[in-house]
Amino acid sequence: MGAVELTSAARDLTTTARMMMQAGKGILAMDESNPTANRRFAKLGIPQTVDARRAWRELILTTPGLGEYISSAILYDETIRQTASDGRPFLVLLAKAGIIPGIKVDAGTKDLAAHPGEKVTEGLDRLRERLTEYRQMGARFAKWRAVIAIGEGIPSPGCLLANAHALARYAGLCQEVGLVPIVEPEVLMDGGHTLERCAEVTEATLHVVFDQLHAQRILLEGIILKPNMVLSGADCPVQAGVEEVADTTVKVLLRTVPAAVPGIAFLSGGQSAEMASVRLNAMNVRWRDKAPWALTFSFSRAIQQPAMDVWKGDARQASAAQAVLKQRARANGMARGGVYQPPS
Ligand code: 13P
Repeated sequence: MGAVELTSAARDLTTTARMMMQAGKGILAMDESNPTANRRFAKLGIPQTVDARRAWRELILTTPGLGEYISSAILYDETIRQTASDGRPFLVLLAKAGIIPGIKVDAGTKDLAAHPGEKVTEGLDRLRERLTEYRQMGARFAKWRAVIAIGEGIPSPGCLLANAHALARYAGLCQEVGLVPIVEPEVLMDGGHTLERCAEVTEATLHVVFDQLHAQRILLEGIILKPNMVLSGADCPVQAGVEEVADTTVKVLLRTVPAAVPGIAFLSGGQSAEMASVRLNAMNVRWRDKAPWALTFSFSRAIQQPAMDVWKGDARQASAAQAVLKQRARANGMARGGVYQPPS
């Protein structure tokens, strides 16, 4: 066990983590890798170019009042170095909006050897040097995503352990240079599995993740957990209701996530924007007074997609798209406080 009294470096980490979790706000994930951003653009007929990606990110970062609901934003290597069309670095736009910058640092998923159908996230090579550079550029936190698929005979213990070990190694390197690690083990919603099966796999995953975080001497007060919500598989004929999802998700987290962790920021994982807000809201309505950690959002698709559908690469639609983006950010900011009223 680490020292109970925190050093000043540890206190800085906990302060950043708490600022990321401030009331009424959440984390905007805008850290899509170029291939992922291009895939989303292709679906809407938007050119898959560096200029189009810049225009989209600039639209997001210049949305008036975004900082009212967004405490922090996860960037990608291309984005953290990018400037807006008027030459101002994106990092300056973020500072102006009062949004804390962070950076995705994993190098994506690869097939896990000897484990058909399972992936492991790579990116530990030279990570210390990369994290040091990002810290010097102004990042205050980082993100690493592991993916766990549910299927016949999977996930395997080998897959859970390999991914959890990498997450813990990453988290240690982050804390060494003063970055708060967002620890993201995503149990995918693809498949015909039930809510109960997702609960069982999520519980097993988080158990191994926190075991590995402990083994690597991670300061739990200085991390943010970014898990999936516990959902029925996308192809399951029986879809669990909002309250069942909310209760099952929080119960799984209560069994696995120590109270020292300051906050849990969910990924949206392919849920509709509205469902993601409604489910987060229900968790806060029903559990806010009993859960030891903040429950908020770190959505990408569930915040960006409705706005991108309006923008479609057309500069004339930029302010309409910004209004939609702000609306989703606001809905989620309300849901984080358990006061979201869906449109009737
Ligand atoms: P989604 O909310 O689209 O699942 O993305 C989450 C994520 O991990 C991106 O950082």
